[in-house]
Amino acid sequence: CPGRQEMQNSLKQVQKLLSAHEASYLQSLRTLKKKINLLQGTAKQPARANNNTCPKLDAPANGRKLGKVLTVGHEVHFLCDAGYELVGSESRICQESLSWSGQQPLCRDSNECASAPCLNGGTCVDEVNQFSCICAKGWAGATCQSPVPTFAAAGALPAATTGPFVRPSRCTQVQGTTHCTCEPGYTISGRDSNTCTDIDECELFHNGQAGRLCLHSCVNTPGGYRCTCPAGYNVTRDGRSCKDIDECATRQNNCTRDQMCVNTYGGFQCVRVDCPRIRNATYVKTSPMRCERNPCPVDNKACSQAPNSFSYHYLSVVSNLSAPRVMFRVTAMRPMGDTLRFSLLGGKQARRHFTVQRSDRQTGQLMLVSPVQGPVTLEAEVEMSELEKRVQLGRYITKVTMFVSQYEF
Ligand SMILES: *[C@@H]1O[C@H](CO)[C@@H](O)[C@H](O)[C@H]1NC(C)=O
Ligand SMILES: *[C@@H]1O[C@H](CO)[C@@H](O)[C@H](O)[C@H]1NC(C)=O
Ligand SMILES: *[C@@H]1O[C@H](CO)[C@@H](O)[C@H](O)[C@H]1NC(C)=O
Ligand SMILES: *[C@@H]1O[C@H](CO)[C@@H](O)[C@H](O)[C@H]1NC(C)=O
Ligand SMILES: *[C@@H]1O[C@H](CO)[C@@H](O)[C@H](O)[C@H]1NC(C)=O
Repeated sequence: CPGRQEMQNSLKQVQKLLSAHEASYLQSLRTLKKKINLLQGTAKQPARANNNTCPKLDAPANGRKLGKVLTVGHEVHFLCDAGYELVGSESRICQESLSWSGQQPLCRDSNECASAPCLNGGTCVDEVNQFSCICAKGWAGATCQSPVPTFAAAGALPAATTGPFVRPSRCTQVQGTTHCTCEPGYTISGRDSNTCTDIDECELFHNGQAGRLCLHSCVNTPGGYRCTCPAGYNVTRDGRSCKDIDECATRQNNCTRDQMCVNTYGGFQCVRVDCPRIRNATYVKTSPMRCERNPCPVDNKACSQAPNSFSYHYLSVVSNLSAPRVMFRVTAMRPMGDTLRFSLLGGKQARRHFTVQRSDRQTGQLMLVSPVQGPVTLEAEVEMSELEKRVQLGRYITKVTMFVSQYEF
């Protein structure tokens, strides 16, 4: 049957085709298997190399590790976070011995206080990654750099760090603008509005229009000034002027018992009244300041013409006293005769500074004619004579001693 033959041929051809397919399939399967094996081989390579690495390394606490390759010859680096410093090896190499070179590093909290960042006596406290300052009294700021902007009582600030002539200012914020003020007697110093410096009143008012600040001398003090006076003077109640100390009244003198204490401006003088010795006349002290002639023998002309009395007067005056000026008056209490005459005795010195004038019928006056610069002692004698018909009845001497002080006060 031809149909059956044809059918068998067709079947054989399909069989051939199928076995060709199968061979091809198996071939590709083998190729695939080879490829897989190859891939497996390459994949296995690192596994074998694993035996070639150093032990895993950890990053230090508070730090980082750079580099992941752990095979021989590779390096790993270490970094610390801010505020920490690295102690140990900064980098390590994986050696042939499969161990790391160097030592495992640490990140240690760095000592921020090492550089002494706190100023003005502040105490540094080291903290992780930072420091803080405990400031001394009167100071503030991260590094105690600013004076505390408040009114501080005197003495509240350590003098060693501020000085009494420097004070913190008091600042207020007004709409974003800072206004700083100072205690009385202080002013903002040039650059730093945090700081007030003392005003030197003595310097500032040295030649002030309102007059001198102090009569004698001025001492600048923290926040103010003080007037001082020379020895022998005390500062007056108003603090500006000087007043003389009365050494004679306050026993601050060393005058002896037979001396008299004369208070002068700025000091004192011990004086002693001794009656004069004049030929043919003798004198007796009738009061501490007066000597009178003893009665004269009859017909002893030298005696009768000697002065009847000597009076002593001590004046204390300030230097540069304005002139002319009446310094002393001599008055005849019970004038005798018809004429009274007043005259100036003494040498050149007396005549340079003084003159004697009559002020009324019974009175003569000693005048200072020009200012005298002290310290100096001037003496002048005023003679008053009584006459009757041009004949001298009596002479009376007044000795004036003038202590001129060094200062005009
Ligand atoms: C590493 O190599 C050593 C010999 O050098 C061998 O004894 C060990 O089995 C290997 N280890 C691995 C995980 O291949
Ligand atoms: C002058 O001042 C001193 C001290 O400064 C004082 O002891 C004295 O009592 C004062 N004298 C007078 C007269 O005020
Ligand atoms: C009095 O004291 C002054 C010093 O203050 C001295 O110079 C003088 O000699 C003294 N006078 C007497 C009499 O002790
Ligand atoms: C002074 O007194 C003596 C006697 O004591 C007398 O001899 C003499 O003449 C007197 N001198 C004058 C200037 O009077
Ligand atoms: C003396 O006083 C006058 C004014 O009274 C003054 O002009 C003069 O400077 C003074 N002299 C001295 C040395 O102080």
